[in-house]
Amino acid sequence: MTRRAVCPGSFDPVTNGHLDVIGRAAGLFDELVVATGTNPSKSRMFTPEERLDMLITAVEPWPNVRVAGFGGLIVDFCREIDAVAIVKGLRGATDYEYELPMAQMNLHLTGVETVFLPGAVDNAFVSSSLIKEVASFGGDISGLVPDFVAERVAAKLAKSRG
Ligand code: PNS
Repeated sequence: MTRRAVCPGSFDPVTNGHLDVIGRAAGLFDELVVATGTNPSKSRMFTPEERLDMLITAVEPWPNVRVAGFGGLIVDFCREIDAVAIVKGLRGATDYEYELPMAQMNLHLTGVETVFLPGAVDNAFVSSSLIKEVASFGGDISGLVPDFVAERVAAKLAKSRG
C-alpha cells in the first residue's frame, strides 16, 4: 500500500522553508503531494497557475513528490487521493497556535492525521508574506527562496509598477 501524504499551503511563493519541510516529509512517506490552495484571508501576488508552476520546478529534486491544486476542503482532497496524513512545518509557537485548531478540525471531519515537522532554525524567520514585503521595498530575498523564484518575484513587481 502506498502511504501518501499531502503538504498543503498557499505557496505564494514557495520558500526555502517550505522546501526544507517538503524534502524531509518526502523521506517519511512513499509519496508526497504538495497541494496549493487559496487562503482567502491572505493577499496574493501570484495566480494559482503561477504558484503551481513554480512548485513543479521547485520539487524536481524529489522523485516521489508531485504537485496539485485543490479547491474546497483539504480533507476532501485527502480523501480523493487516498492520503493518510497532512504534513505541516512549524517555525514556532505562533505557527502551532494557527495550525493546531486546523489539525483538530481536520481530524474531527474525516479522521485524517496531521504530522508536524519542526522548521529548520535557519528558516525560522522565512515566510511568503515577509518575502513579498521585503522584495516590494527593494530588499534582498536571495538565499531565502530558490533563485528562479526570486526572479519571478522581481518580474511580478516590475510588471505591477508598469
Ligand atoms: O499557506 P497557508 O495559509 O498556511 O495555507 C493554508 C491552507 C490553504 C492550506 C488552508 O487554509 C487550507 O487548508 N485551506 C483549505 C480549506 C480548508 O480545508 N479549510 C478548513 C481548514 S480546518
